[in-house]
Amino acid sequence: MSASLPATASPWFDTPQRFGRITRWLHWGMALLFAWQFVGMGLRLALGRTPLVSFFVGTHASVGLLLLILVLLRGAWGLANRARRPSHGDSLLGRAARLGHAALYLLMFVVPALALVRLYGSGRAFAWFNTVPLFAASPKDEALIAPAALLHGPLAWLLLALVAGHVGMVLLHRWLWRDGVAERMIGRVR
Ligand code: HEM
Ligand code: HEM
Repeated sequence: MSASLPATASPWFDTPQRFGRITRWLHWGMALLFAWQFVGMGLRLALGRTPLVSFFVGTHASVGLLLLILVLLRGAWGLANRARRPSHGDSLLGRAARLGHAALYLLMFVVPALALVRLYGSGRAFAWFNTVPLFAASPKDEALIAPAALLHGPLAWLLLALVAGHVGMVLLHRWLWRDGVAERMIGRVR
């Protein structure tokens, strides 16, 4: 698959030395959208329903669906670039990094997917960003509601904990080991 992609010198594509612009736009754009989701839900827990909280929470489902679409695109892009992106090596730390990234992908998919299944099962009509009609009103289906009722919140907080660990590791790479790993995703594409 990667053989059909253009030469790796382009700043848009990944190389074994660094991630390219497309990967970086997906990474940082999604990081911002995740921050939006967690700040909104954190404020909801801290403040209850205030106008500020409604501003965030009112977009929660639509931003979640956007994240679900983006993670599918990002996963496909990652697979297409597998042979050319920076490798983590076979050390224990390298394997842990691969496992950690795989867990992030799994949760980035499962957290919004379960919630969308619940929304569909709730029987309420849903228009994406109040614009694109996706579900019409339908009878409620408890079996579709139950998994997210149990798992959406806990798995979302687990995702946040993993992200905190991820950022912690990046800080170690950047400031303690100074091994150039952080610069593969941060700063100008060289
Ligand atoms: C990847 C994107 C998402 C993230 C990171 C996320 C995160 C969260 C978090 C942290 C909470 C608070 C849980 C608590 O109160 O302890 C929450 C609640 C909620 N989310 Fe999401 N969410 C995402 C996508 C979605 C989507 C797509 C929907 C709807 C289709 C949705 C609907 C809800 C609802 C209704 C609640 C309140 C009930 C509950 O806690 O399960 N979320 N979300
Ligand atoms: C301030 C926040 C963040 C920083 C500083 C950061 C930094 C980085 C860096 C430097 C890399 C490259 C590491 C390497 O070469 O192995 C990376 C990769 C990665 N990051 Fe982050 N990150 C942040 C937020 C996030 C968030 C919110 C997620 C997901 C929810 C995430 C998921 C990933 C994944 C899956 C990779 C592997 C490459 C890929 O498939 O895109 N990061 N991150």
